[in-house]
Amino acid sequence: MIREALQTDIKQIAAIHSNALPNDLLPQLGINFLSHYFIPTCLRSKNCFILVNGNIKKGISAFVIFAYDTNKLTREVTAYKIPLLIATLKAIIKKPRFIKETLAFIRNQKQLINIKDLDISALPELYIIATDSSHQRQGHGSKLLNIGLDMLQSQGHKGCIVKTALAAATQFYLKHDFKPIGIEYRGTKKFNILFHEFISA
Ligand SMILES: CC(C)(COP(=O)(O)OP(=O)(O)OC[C@H]1O[C@@H](n2cnc3c(N)ncnc32)[C@H](O)[C@@H]1OP(=O)(O)O)[C@@H](O)C(=O)NCCC(=O)NCCS
Repeated sequence: MIREALQTDIKQIAAIHSNALPNDLLPQLGINFLSHYFIPTCLRSKNCFILVNGNIKKGISAFVIFAYDTNKLTREVTAYKIPLLIATLKAIIKKPRFIKETLAFIRNQKQLINIKDLDISALPELYIIATDSSHQRQGHGSKLLNIGLDMLQSQGHKGCIVKTALAAATQFYLKHDFKPIGIEYRGTKKFNILFHEFISA
């Protein structure tokens, strides 16, 4: 069953985020930061919505966060300066390279879009999608994605973008009619930018 996320889902969302994307910056800040700051902020925020797949008794197997305004959402989740600093210091102690990766990620951004007149900053973005590693390739991610896209379309958006550096995730988005429209360089990472355009009936 797909539904909007509740407060009671926070711990499970954090656990799925950590196990499905262990090398992403946010999970490296630790499960504590995810479950006390990042996910509660997303749940409260008007700049995004979170859907989960599962039920209250059995728990959830996957989640997705769609951001209406990625920059605003990022500002909200990084507003907790002291917890963020503590989580960052812990991540550096665990992995000294973390600071270099983070700075490169934040500073060195270059974006190349190959569709003229498309302002991607005005489009909603699929911020994070993750299926628990033991439930992947069973259709859970597809269900979440399709329902989320339907919601965005019914709210009047023109389409949705996603950025990913992962080959498997790129395959997943291509299968769901996302088209590659550009590249974003962040530090040493190269992200594919994909766009799913809503076709009006
Ligand atoms: C990407 C992800 C969310 C897909 O969720 P899922 O529940 O496994 O997706 P589905 O079962 O609905 O997969 C549908 C299709 O996507 C593609 N796909 C999914 N995972 C894939 C993989 N590891 N390699 C290649 N293609 C993949 C396939 O075409 C698949 O169809 P198939 O199984 O019939 O071949 C999930 O694999 C995941 O959590 N990955 C790690 C986190 C991640 O990369 N998130 C995206 C970046 S934010």
